[in-house]
Amino acid sequence: MRHVILIISAVIIGLNAFALPKHSEDYVTYHGYSVIRVIPHTEDQFKLVQKLSESLKYDFDFWKPPSKLNKPVDIFSPPTMTRQLIVHLKKGSLMPVTKIRDFGKRAAEAQMEVSSYKSSDAIDPDSFDFYKYHPFADIMGYIQAVAQKYPSFVSISSIGKSLQNRDTQLLKIGYPSSTAKNALFIDAGIHAREWIAPATALYAINQWVTNSSYTDLLKAIDIYVAPSINPDGYEYSRTKDRNWRKTRSGPRQNCYGVDPNRNFAFKWMVAGSSSNPCSETYAGPSPFSEIEATNLKNFLVPHNDTIKAYLTLHSYGEDILYPWGYATGQYPPDVNDLIALGHEMYNAIKAVHGTEYTVGDSGDALYPASGASDDYSKSIGIKYVYTVELRPGDGDNDDDQWYGFDLPAKFIKPTAEETFPALMAAANRVQNGPF
Ligand SMILES: *[C@@H]1O[C@H](CO)[C@@H](O)[C@H](O)[C@H]1NC(C)=O
Ligand SMILES: *[C@@H]1O[C@H](CO)[C@@H](O)[C@H](O)[C@H]1NC(C)=O
Ligand SMILES: [Zn+2]
Repeated sequence: MRHVILIISAVIIGLNAFALPKHSEDYVTYHGYSVIRVIPHTEDQFKLVQKLSESLKYDFDFWKPPSKLNKPVDIFSPPTMTRQLIVHLKKGSLMPVTKIRDFGKRAAEAQMEVSSYKSSDAIDPDSFDFYKYHPFADIMGYIQAVAQKYPSFVSISSIGKSLQNRDTQLLKIGYPSSTAKNALFIDAGIHAREWIAPATALYAINQWVTNSSYTDLLKAIDIYVAPSINPDGYEYSRTKDRNWRKTRSGPRQNCYGVDPNRNFAFKWMVAGSSSNPCSETYAGPSPFSEIEATNLKNFLVPHNDTIKAYLTLHSYGEDILYPWGYATGQYPPDVNDLIALGHEMYNAIKAVHGTEYTVGDSGDALYPASGASDDYSKSIGIKYVYTVELRPGDGDNDDDQWYGFDLPAKFIKPTAEETFPALMAAANRVQNGPF
């Protein structure tokens, strides 16, 4: 009898704990989910977290997978697993720190912001609010409005439709020329939840089109900006699941989505990729299974002789990463040129707000991950290729909190302000070489 009562009350408590807040039946609440950070300082500690990250039994979402000694590892943990996880980590003499106690609160705040967002029918580039996270339709609306306002040097085109039929457009900024111009290509948002990336791209567009001091640059080179290249995933991260990273294809084994940044046909499935459709790093059933990755490839390949630099904006970590990413200790023959521009970008960022990025090889400094758009771009002959992991870094923000992917909109301004000079360093390199 007592047994039965205990079970019943446990069920009720359980239901209470997981009751969905109002008006969010469809929204993943993430009630009680945490982000636990450990920093492995010994080989044994490193192996323990690595084993955990590769374990199929515990399918944790590693917000920051193990990369190397003394670099933080961030583990997104459901409430049912957190105690066990902490015990396990402590047994390996690691010191877990709770970076986010309840992601549910963050998710609820993000949902509030999305639901109170007011779209405007006619977007005026002069009054567009860059310090806000916009829906895909308004990101496209903004770049269309820019193209309309500055027809002498800005044009818009489509790289193709997403799986759910969203037309993915990109902006070309640069004065027409009778000879072929070299170009800088920037994309953002290949990972849906990294909202700071598209926001940073829009800020950069505005700088280039409104500031006449860039006229000479734009006469010399073209700048392509594709500000949101995984629109289905991005919208899903806004309306259903703040932690969504992948595309929305599927279901396969009841799970949706492929990591589009593991889906490119260069060293596909060699490292840091999963064959499990439920994993956050699922590489897909085959290379270019995802229309979003295919669209990007279809644009880059025929432009591989003119595009001299490819930058793909991600978050988080504050890193400037150059190829190769598919393995540690593998570098292209011209790696010193990539390191040199990487350091210019580092200095440009630091000069604005003092933020210090890490410049490194993608496979060494982050973690080996193959089938990504950076390696693919390098493999087709683009010279300067970087994955830029925007804010936040390892430390605290000015309000003493840490946010991971869910960087509040108030950080768009400083992030975009400090990133823009790094994009300019790349643009100047495209203008002046060496190639
Ligand atoms: C325009 O660009 C120049 C050169 O980068 C910069 O010094 C200036 O502050 C910019 N002006 C505005 C209004 O942002
Ligand atoms: C661009 O791609 C073509 C094949 O599509 C290849 O032959 C050429 O070498 C590439 N260009 C560069 C600069 O690598
Ligand atoms: Zn990313």
